[in-house]
Amino acid sequence: MLQTTPANIQGATPVGVPPLLQVSGVTLQYKTKQHLVTATYKVSFDVYQSDRFVLLGPSGCGKSTLLKAIGGYMTPTEGSIWLKGAPVTKPGPDRVFVFQEFDQLLPWKTVKQNVVFALTSSRKLRGKAADEKALQYIDKVGLTKFANSYPHTLSGGMKQRVAIARAMAMEPDVLLMDEPFAALDALTRRKMQEELLQLWSDTRFTVLFVTHSIPEATLIGNRILLLSPHPGQVKAELNSDGSDPVSPSTGKKLSDSIHDMLFADRVEEQEVVHHG
Ligand SMILES: Nc1ncnc2c1ncn2[C@@H]1O[C@H](COP(=O)(O)OP(=O)(O)OP(=O)(O)O)[C@@H](O)[C@H]1O
Ligand SMILES: [Mg+2]
Repeated sequence: MLQTTPANIQGATPVGVPPLLQVSGVTLQYKTKQHLVTATYKVSFDVYQSDRFVLLGPSGCGKSTLLKAIGGYMTPTEGSIWLKGAPVTKPGPDRVFVFQEFDQLLPWKTVKQNVVFALTSSRKLRGKAADEKALQYIDKVGLTKFANSYPHTLSGGMKQRVAIARAMAMEPDVLLMDEPFAALDALTRRKMQEELLQLWSDTRFTVLFVTHSIPEATLIGNRILLLSPHPGQVKAELNSDGSDPVSPSTGKKLSDSIHDMLFADRVEEQEVVHHG
């Protein structure tokens, strides 16, 4: 596995601090009627408190599948997942998702009611405390004026802001974001990326962020795990300061090194489907 260390080591592996999330030798498979599909093969990585940890890899390499397993919705065939030193066996409010789709919100509830509902149904908070927490996070994403609006009256970007506010209000140990900005137009996407970084600098939450965009990975991530094509295996783990640093080992820009590594895969790419 290739390790590069940029000049600015913000987010480099802390010494002596246990990881918040440990993914250890995780193989994930889907059993369909005809096939056994291996989505990831022996993937390992550690996420530390306040990491903006990016999973980057081509379509079908198992990024969403990994998030599902970390979310507790899928059990590894091999390997294990640990959160704060305890094995992940089921979903819980300590891991909250934000997805790409704009229809993540309950359409019959207002912006505020959507956030309050998440807080009360996870039994995190009730009553006035839930209301206050919801409004606090709605304000963080700049939607105070829309707190009583219904989702169908909002733009795609605004809906994603609500989904982010709702997830952040839950104050999970780790926020799981699966291509949250992929369905937005380029300008809105760029704005939302900046807003996410701003939110991070306010609260230093831990986020596991999935993307197949190299520029998005280098902008968002302080650490980037590069996965090979199907079945996903760890190809490299890179540190980044988010500003496209020059890797001292190759003299190349981080985004160029990543591009080269992804491009090299196209030659090796092959479908691995086990019959059985
Ligand atoms: N429910 C399922 N049943 C069977 N196979 C599945 C299922 N979901 C995903 N797969 C397979 O597992 C592999 C990984 O899929 P996954 O959705 O995790 O990839 P991904 O990296 O998130 O891709 P993308 O970037 O397109 O979202 C693919 O080969 C896919 O076909
Ligand atoms: Mg996916």
